[in-house]
Amino acid sequence: MTGLLDDKVVVVSGVGPALGRAVCLRAAAEGAEVVLAARTQSRLDEIAAQIRDAGGQALTVATDITDDAAVAALVERTVAEFGRADVLVNNAFSVPSMKPLGRTDFEQISSSLDLTVLGTLRVIKAFTPTLSEVQGAIVNINSMVIRHSEPRYGSYKIAKSALLAMSQTLATELGGAGIRVNSVAPGYIWDDQLKWYFGQVAEKYGITAEQVYEQTAARSDLKRLPEPDEIADSVLFLASDMARAITGHTLDVNCGEYHD
Ligand SMILES: NC(=O)c1ccc[n+]([C@@H]2O[C@H](COP(=O)([O-])OP(=O)(O)OC[C@H]3O[C@@H](n4cnc5c(N)ncnc54)[C@H](OP(=O)(O)O)[C@@H]3O)[C@@H](O)[C@H]2O)c1
Repeated sequence: MTGLLDDKVVVVSGVGPALGRAVCLRAAAEGAEVVLAARTQSRLDEIAAQIRDAGGQALTVATDITDDAAVAALVERTVAEFGRADVLVNNAFSVPSMKPLGRTDFEQISSSLDLTVLGTLRVIKAFTPTLSEVQGAIVNINSMVIRHSEPRYGSYKIAKSALLAMSQTLATELGGAGIRVNSVAPGYIWDDQLKWYFGQVAEKYGITAEQVYEQTAARSDLKRLPEPDEIADSVLFLASDMARAITGHTLDVNCGEYHD
């Protein structure tokens, strides 16, 4: 623990069991007061309890980021409790269609864009006034999908590519107010969900889950897959004053699977 985010109010939208959780816990461990937002109140409460048990401060606000009124309430509750927001991390995710584009319903693509692009923009717009008072920082969670064009990832890639384009434009538009806008693009995340999935793949092909891991990790320079805390730490870096001269940037966190 280094106190990287001491006295910072960090809002995380789209807190789920994997990366969202890790970002909240790591931010609190670095001294932040954390505002947790997603639709499932019970999960927010459980993570907030863990933060408070460790001596930190947390506020939970059940929020659907596709809903204007809910997002307005999130800003109001944040400012009422902590007086401001210094950092906004946008993490929300729902499982994409995973079909070839030719067989993907337009509705699925639209709903992916609604959440990933317009949902994130809605939250950013709502927090811009308070972020501009403190020259705050925004980190949008993207994905390694922007670096490849593998089949079946089309719907996800469309949404995350649009999110990247939006983040870059916002970096320019909000830079005058001193607000930084950066992205983190994780590759695989070695979490419970992926462990379960590798178990399924192993069963299907009659190999062990360890072999699935090794074959997957072999594609990366470091020959391993990043863990949630390792992705979270790169988010905290971009959120912190250590990155005070960095904006419009995308940090790839994939153990070297794809890079320029
Ligand atoms: N997992 C991976 O391998 C991986 C790889 C590369 C990039 N990423 C990116 O990393 C981020 C986190 O992914 P994750 O799998 O670790 O997810 P996570 O943090 O475990 O959960 C994300 C949460 O977003 C919330 N959400 C969905 N729709 C929402 C809405 N309308 N309003 C508010 N919250 C909403 C959901 O919670 P509620 O249902 O409670 O709202 C969900 O649990 C995503 O942006 C994803 O694209 C993940």
